[in-house]
Amino acid sequence: MVRSNQASEMGCTKRLRAGEEIIHIDCASHMYPDGTLGMHRMCFQVLKNEIVAICGPNGAGKSTLVEHLNGTLTPYEGRIVVGGKELTDTESGELWREVGVVFQNPDDQLFAPTVLDDVMFGPLNLGMTREEARNAALDALRSLGVSELERKLPAHLSWGQKRLVSIAGIMAMKPRIIVLDEPTSGLDPVNSRRIEDLIVRMRAEHGMSVVVATHDLELAARISDRIYLIREGSVLAEGSPVEILYDTELLGKASLCAPPLVRMFLDYCRRTGVEPKRRPLRGEEFIDMLVDREKAGDIDRDLYFGKIPNYVTGDRISET
Ligand SMILES: Nc1ncnc2c1ncn2[C@@H]1O[C@H](COP(=O)(O)OP(=O)(O)OP(=O)(O)O)[C@@H](O)[C@H]1O
Ligand SMILES: [Mg+2]
Repeated sequence: MVRSNQASEMGCTKRLRAGEEIIHIDCASHMYPDGTLGMHRMCFQVLKNEIVAICGPNGAGKSTLVEHLNGTLTPYEGRIVVGGKELTDTESGELWREVGVVFQNPDDQLFAPTVLDDVMFGPLNLGMTREEARNAALDALRSLGVSELERKLPAHLSWGQKRLVSIAGIMAMKPRIIVLDEPTSGLDPVNSRRIEDLIVRMRAEHGMSVVVATHDLELAARISDRIYLIREGSVLAEGSPVEILYDTELLGKASLCAPPLVRMFLDYCRRTGVEPKRRPLRGEEFIDMLVDREKAGDIDRDLYFGKIPNYVTGDRISET
């Protein structure tokens, strides 16, 4: 893990595997017109076929960083390099073909008269025929579970539906890199899980690199290869999910709390006096560890568990 200010006079001090970088933000800063420093000497890299999470509290600069990835914003110092090409004020025109950004606010993205028109817009601009664009749009709507919305007016959708449709609009273009700003906020648990599965599939099946800006650390724990923890427009730390999410002191500095599973596991270790050798990030991993401990005779089963109840075995509960 790299902690704190990676920036130096020479640029980012930490370089990942140079030839595999698909995005490199090199000590870039952005100032909004009112003088707010939205990003300060930010160093950020994404490798090919990687899922990277940008985590930080409200106002940390996640969306500012995201909007530099497709040229919506440009830095006043530092460099933005995508696919080996450095972006300049005049050289970001074709970037939308490579980097699909789903904005935090879906209202910034949806504008066409119907949902289908909206989702077809990107594919048509890529040069697909109307039929190809329609098929790409219908596929994307289907994979997000919102086919029935195809004829609706975007303005009439619920907030969660707008988010799903805006993700479909970017998915339909199949960019090399997809960037999602708070993709699960405002979504119910089933749709959140759908987005999570989709992100994992986009990498596995289409070889995409995925960047997710989120304060949902449980999501970051489950899907990301690396996490950038950001605060006040700069990188506070970068590392694997285990390194970042088990460092409760570091998370406190970023005004974030460790995910519930991590807190529960650390509490379990403290109270049972065991030294963790592995550190689970998913519920299944934690359960596997408990089952292994029980099998090894480290847990007195009779102390904690009685007869397996009917709702677990599926037996019919007898009526009295
Ligand atoms: N258009 C703007 N003009 C002035 N300041 C801005 C503008 N947009 C963002 N900021 C400021 O830049 C900083 C970073 O904002 P940003 O939206 O990138 O944060 P964030 O990490 O995405 O927050 P959130 O979790 O709330 O979405 C904040 O201090 C914010 O007030
Ligand atoms: Mg934001």
